[in-house]
Amino acid sequence: MPGRHFLQIPGPTNVPDRVLRAIAQPTIDHRGSAFAALARDVLDGLQRVFQTSEPVVVYPSSGTGAWEAALVNTLSPEDTVLMFETGHFATLWRDMASRLGLRVEFVAGDWRHGVDPRAVEQKLTGDRGRTIKAVAVVHNETSTGVTSRIPAIRQAIDRAGHPALFMVDTISSLASIDYRHDEWGVDVTVAGSQKGLMLPPGISFNAISDKAVAASKHAKLPRAYWRWDETITMNRQGYFPSTPATNLLYGLHEALAMLREEGMANVFARHQRHAEATRRAVRGWGLEILCRNPAEYSGSLTAVMMPEGHDADAFRREVLARFDMSLGTGLGKLAGRVFRIGHLGFFNDLMLCGTLCGVQMGLAACGIPHNGNGVGDALAFLAGDKAGKASHRRAA
Ligand SMILES: Cc1ncc(COP(=O)(O)O)c(C=O)c1O
Repeated sequence: MPGRHFLQIPGPTNVPDRVLRAIAQPTIDHRGSAFAALARDVLDGLQRVFQTSEPVVVYPSSGTGAWEAALVNTLSPEDTVLMFETGHFATLWRDMASRLGLRVEFVAGDWRHGVDPRAVEQKLTGDRGRTIKAVAVVHNETSTGVTSRIPAIRQAIDRAGHPALFMVDTISSLASIDYRHDEWGVDVTVAGSQKGLMLPPGISFNAISDKAVAASKHAKLPRAYWRWDETITMNRQGYFPSTPATNLLYGLHEALAMLREEGMANVFARHQRHAEATRRAVRGWGLEILCRNPAEYSGSLTAVMMPEGHDADAFRREVLARFDMSLGTGLGKLAGRVFRIGHLGFFNDLMLCGTLCGVQMGLAACGIPHNGNGVGDALAFLAGDKAGKASHRRAA
């Protein structure tokens, strides 16, 4: 089809031309001084995005590798990890922990709410023998569009006076939704390249506190490729123990420059604004947002419930065939029941308008019952929103 494809899944996201051009540079010697200068710049820039002064380890892997690295570097066989069933990705991380030989206490959830800080406090207070060694939470559940409140969870851990490590998956929140590794007392932050960082898939991250580094010195789960220590040591000089993803690091360098130019506060405000416009459109259509708690609405995606008797995947197929737009599928137990609108990464008002128009036309084309003009509600919000205008002026 002529024109640009609309990639509106909640990651991988649209990669800016600037980043693609950076990736297209010739690959250089990763043991040479030009590479070391690039790597040191990238590692510094990453610390600003994670809001940390602690090391950020970069892996040539998708986010799943960084999940594994977080667990194997800090824990020992049969340690207990407290996890919460917020959705599909929390469930996959649970499965991984079990496969690695950890015991998982998995608090059941309805896939429409985030982690309840009271449940965290209750579980940890009840753990008198201190068998729980880590609390692992997905910040933004990409399968549901629900964002858990990390500062409130940290406060719950502190109220319980519990020494467990705190691990947070920010794969679909980093560089889209405000996140502060140091201030929020997180020990391991897990992230990936293909969402808010506006890169193709292929690199992932662990930001690591001193407490996590200390835990890694006596943790007994087998680990080799994922070891932090060699990487942290070699990174100080700008090098890696094995071959890094050189060209993706060029892209990351450019993406970090773009984030710095826009300003992180503006990046977060832009995501919140597009999320609000999207929710107004969904309400205008008379459809239901999956997330039940407005305090947990996601800034990076919105999951929309399909009316009973209609298949969300048939709708997505029709939208792709007619309008060349990819929407996110329902994952796990939400298959066929929801579709997800990604509004994160390299994204602006008119891209959102096009996206919402595609959804509205798709609803009509598929004969899915819906009201009025959700797009009109979103447009009125975008056109009239003073915060949006102010943030554009600041960015300009
Ligand atoms: C919140 C979250 N965690 C983990 C993952 C798994 O990451 P990957 O598919 O990059 O391995 C994803 C992927 O979308 C995700 O959204």
